[in-house]
Amino acid sequence: MKYNQEKIKEVAGELALAFTKNYKCSLDEASSFFLDNILKQDEVAKLVDASANPKQLARNAVFRNFVKKCKKELYYQLRKYKSDDASLQSSLDAARKDPSDENLEQVLSEVAQFHVSSQERFEENEIFYDKLNDLFANAETIIDAGCGVQPLFFPFGRFSNVKRYAAIDKDKASIALMQEIKSIFPQRYQWLYPDVWNIGEGWDNLCTEHDVEEFDLALMLKVVAVVQRTNPELVNGLCKVPAKTIVVSGVKESMVKKQDIGRRERRLVLNFMESCGRQKIAEFDLDNEFIVIG
Ligand SMILES: C[S@@+](CC[C@H](N)C(=O)[O-])C[C@H]1O[C@@H](n2cnc3c(N)ncnc32)[C@H](O)[C@@H]1O
Repeated sequence: MKYNQEKIKEVAGELALAFTKNYKCSLDEASSFFLDNILKQDEVAKLVDASANPKQLARNAVFRNFVKKCKKELYYQLRKYKSDDASLQSSLDAARKDPSDENLEQVLSEVAQFHVSSQERFEENEIFYDKLNDLFANAETIIDAGCGVQPLFFPFGRFSNVKRYAAIDKDKASIALMQEIKSIFPQRYQWLYPDVWNIGEGWDNLCTEHDVEEFDLALMLKVVAVVQRTNPELVNGLCKVPAKTIVVSGVKESMVKKQDIGRRERRLVLNFMESCGRQKIAEFDLDNEFIVIG
């Protein structure tokens, strides 16, 4: 090896430690990320090797830019909704061969890892659906806008009046996964209708497809803040959802940063309710999520 590996490892470790103080990332993951990146860039590895001490290194403009770029990249890596799906694929293969209840359970536990939002809620699905059941056990039509893969966890047995559950999201991978699981377990998911859809398309086609003027219930879980951040011009379109009641949620802690954003998100959700012209009729909390109904 050209350069002092121990010294490079030590610097990668220090960068990782600083990063994990503010972000939800394991020290191991951050350390190997910084180490790989230093080793990939000869100019940086050389700098680290030649530096007399950490202060001197921190003053170097090339190194500072390198650290800034790495932090940004790792941040975006952590923000990605979906995790590696190799184990999900193998549990889907097993379910295709034998669509048993045990295999469905296995698939669902892998699905929970597939989408960060469902993963965060996974342990509390029962509490979440209990509360929803208290209020909406008689719902017949549900539309879940920006649903991710959460509809797969919907306990149909407890909402047996549901005839159509429109599960819509712009994310093709989430929709394809739900369609695939429905095709493997048709009896379990006959109520589920997953479709690729973007808020910009509006609601008319969905109403026609599902033959309703108004859905009984619209779910918009952890969606409003995402849309507000990424496509603010579409928030108004979300407001126009044709539904008797809407269930809107936000998170208390940032997905990636160790940062309490509950107050900000709650304000955003309440403002959203107001712009929709809806009165809040109920509210409840999960560990990292608050749910407002109106
Ligand atoms: C934070 S996730 C929430 C997923 C799910 N509702 C849950 O709580 O488990 C936000 C979802 O909104 C979807 N989304 C964002 N912008 C959208 C848009 N313009 N049209 C449709 N879906 C959108 C994303 O694809 C993503 O699945």
